[in-house]
Amino acid sequence: MMKQYNEIKKRYQDALLFFRLGDFYEMFGEDAQIAAKELEIALTSREAGKAGRIPMCGVPHHAVNGYLEKLVSKGYRVAICEQLEDPRQAKGVVKRDVVRVVTPGTFIEGALEDKRSRYLTAVAAAGSSFGVASLDLSTGQFLVTELGAFALLEDELFRLGPAELVVGSSSPLEGQLSPIASQLEATISHVDQRLAHMDAASETLLRHFQVATLSPFGLDTEAKICAAGMALAYVQDTQKGILEHILRVHTYTLEQFLQIDAHSRLNLELTRTIRDGRKAGSLLGVLDHTRTSMGGRLLRWNLEQPLVHKEEIARRQDAVAALVEEAGLRLEIQELLDQVYDLERLMGRLTVGTGNARDLRALCASLEVIPRLKELLDEHTVELLSSTGAQLDPLTELTGLIDGAIMDNPPISVREGGLIKQGFSTDLDELRTASRKGKTWIKNLEAHERQRTGIKSLKVGFNKVFGYYIEVTNPNLDLVPEDYQRKQTLSNAERFITPELKEKEALILGADERIVDMEYELFCTVRDEAKGYMEKIQANAGALAFLDMLQSLAEAAVRHNYVRPEITTDTALKITQGRHPVIETLQSGFVPNDVSLTEEERIILLTGPNMAGKSTYLRQVALIVILAQMGSFVPAASATIGLVDKIFTRIGAADDLSTGQSTFMVECAETAHMLLNATSRSLIILDELGRGTSTFDGMAIAQAVIEHIHDKIGARTLFSTHFHELTKLEATLPKLAAYRVEVQEKQGAVYFLHQVSRGSTDKSYGVNVARMAGIPKPVLRRALTLLQELEADRGKPVQLDLFASLQYDASSLDEPPIEEEEHPLVAELKSVDINRLTPLEALQLLAKWQQDIKEGQ
Ligand SMILES: Nc1ncnc2c1ncn2[C@@H]1O[C@H](COP(=O)(O)OP(=O)(O)OP(=O)(O)O)[C@@H](O)[C@H]1O
Ligand SMILES: [Mg+2]
Repeated sequence: MMKQYNEIKKRYQDALLFFRLGDFYEMFGEDAQIAAKELEIALTSREAGKAGRIPMCGVPHHAVNGYLEKLVSKGYRVAICEQLEDPRQAKGVVKRDVVRVVTPGTFIEGALEDKRSRYLTAVAAAGSSFGVASLDLSTGQFLVTELGAFALLEDELFRLGPAELVVGSSSPLEGQLSPIASQLEATISHVDQRLAHMDAASETLLRHFQVATLSPFGLDTEAKICAAGMALAYVQDTQKGILEHILRVHTYTLEQFLQIDAHSRLNLELTRTIRDGRKAGSLLGVLDHTRTSMGGRLLRWNLEQPLVHKEEIARRQDAVAALVEEAGLRLEIQELLDQVYDLERLMGRLTVGTGNARDLRALCASLEVIPRLKELLDEHTVELLSSTGAQLDPLTELTGLIDGAIMDNPPISVREGGLIKQGFSTDLDELRTASRKGKTWIKNLEAHERQRTGIKSLKVGFNKVFGYYIEVTNPNLDLVPEDYQRKQTLSNAERFITPELKEKEALILGADERIVDMEYELFCTVRDEAKGYMEKIQANAGALAFLDMLQSLAEAAVRHNYVRPEITTDTALKITQGRHPVIETLQSGFVPNDVSLTEEERIILLTGPNMAGKSTYLRQVALIVILAQMGSFVPAASATIGLVDKIFTRIGAADDLSTGQSTFMVECAETAHMLLNATSRSLIILDELGRGTSTFDGMAIAQAVIEHIHDKIGARTLFSTHFHELTKLEATLPKLAAYRVEVQEKQGAVYFLHQVSRGSTDKSYGVNVARMAGIPKPVLRRALTLLQELEADRGKPVQLDLFASLQYDASSLDEPPIEEEEHPLVAELKSVDINRLTPLEALQLLAKWQQDIKEGQ
């Protein structure tokens, strides 16, 4: 057996090998040492021939999923080696082989987050672009895109958040991706380099989808095909089994969506908070009123990828508006959705063979809401609702089949009977009748034998070793009749059998065993039948998820009092009485504020003391735009949003310690990224740009950035700053408007009004805030003295021509001068030694040069 083990282990060097031995999976050698430590289980050892004793540990097979989850979440791969034949019938060593390799991106039985996809993402480079293919094995979702630059690839990977990255075995990409993988806590895995090439990749795809060409899928470039082929090849190789639920590829481009880079998604706390990474406290936390996991995943996806087409947004808004207004409809839809299970993952389980009878019942219950939903939606005047209704198919044949076949509350196990309803199969019913009759006969036997023998205490019982028996206590043994055969002696009684009892017993046990087998077979036929509806079930799942997202947007609009924004194709941005969707839910008395950006006023420069609400105001504008473009209503009294193509933010000073960059370095990198990628349609949020460095440097950089945006990019921009000197830019930059957040000062105390209005402030009130925060009095007093000194020193306005005043060598920023050929006269002039010239010679020389120039030398 150890020989067999070693042979198999040799083929799976990069994985821990779970070797099935009876009811356990055993690990040996180094694998055992790792597993024992990671799983906190006992390490033992075993004799292994020449090698002497080797370490060993094991886990029970029925609890294997929990252990697997632990290992894959730590990034391990586990090869599952099963017994391929019944050990009782095997001659010699039982045949074994690996049936599956469990990896972080493919383990779908583990503790999956319901409202979040778990992707395995393959990356391929072709020329200067990157193909990215993501597969969620739990649902069969398969997404492919192509990105033109590494920075975009990085952003996209952060959005997808895959659990596992797949690259070609000798691809240089691995080195580039590994810092990203470690931030994502994703494992990097490999496919054979040969499978990563164009021909092999398209072959893999053509074979899986059984099609002649890939272009209808939108797989039309080398990068996309290679990535998609690799992802599929990897899953085929590790899962060995059928991947019937991967029915199609969905290709997309970034331009189809409002682009929000990874930093901005994080800074704006779209799906999780910066502080603790949790959903509560993020925009998603406020917005998510979905009733199904599928709807939850779709909502998250859309929040990170809002739309950019006016009509598409308007269609969603129409549907949300209808669901806001028709409260009865919304409530009924919600109640119906409550009965819908995670159809996508359920089908995933049924496909990979781990689905049970409860999954079939859940499928049935989910489909049973469809007829009523269709009644509600099919005739609806709002197009998106009626078209969603039209996509729903009640699949009555299938629900009829499941309902007729599967028990209402079946057990988890599919191997212990209790699955199939009476009346579904006559063969099964006959067996059950036979078993029941036998059991009744035995039940009656006790009374019958008591009467026949006159032994009042006679008992009929059952145990696993001897089967059914008749028990007679010692005092009554003389009454035992002839036909009883002694089977077992206890201290106070004897147990007997009769030929007839044994006959019935064989009948009952045989029937029961066959019932269990037959039930399993029948379950499998029904399951396979259900799998035949895969495509329609997935279509239903898609429509239900979409409906769930729409009702969730409507629910949020109603609960939080949102309005429908008007979407335009110009570049205006007008919000009246806008609110921060998250902060308004966390505190009372939130003060709404207006925003107005027009063609004439593109940049808002916002000043105001600490704690006034600058950051809140800036973020709220970005969040309102994102909500509007995903089709949601927005927290405002009214809003007109000219479509935005990309959002850039530079917020706060969160150190990026994990990548070893300083605050200021991160700040500059993000600013550079923004300046290079923003367009006149973009929205730029700069919260105290320049605060990560010394005042003069910071202020100078901030001013240069604003000027560049103003003159060259033309993007709508909100800029908050503590550099009050910058407000004088209003005079030189016509499209910049200064705003301030109001405060009231009364007897030395500051009151924050959180009101944004035209104009600027010239005080920071930093010391006042410090006092509110409880900094000790002596420190405060000293700070005030220093402040007065500094303010007196400043006197005249700060000179902003800083590059010169700081003696920064500005020439290094210039383009290198183009070398010109020296004029011959200059050379001559240089060679003259003035000390040896008489005044007359000098005059003559001058006359000669003048002559030369005139002659055009
Ligand atoms: N419009 C508002 N209505 C009510 N409270 C608000 C409003 N805006 C902000 N606040 C409150 O003020 C606090 C501080 O806001 P914020 O962080 O935006 O200030 P800031 O001006 O950016 O301060 P700093 O200059 O220190 O960064 C918020 O946490 C919130 O509690
Ligand atoms: Mg702030």
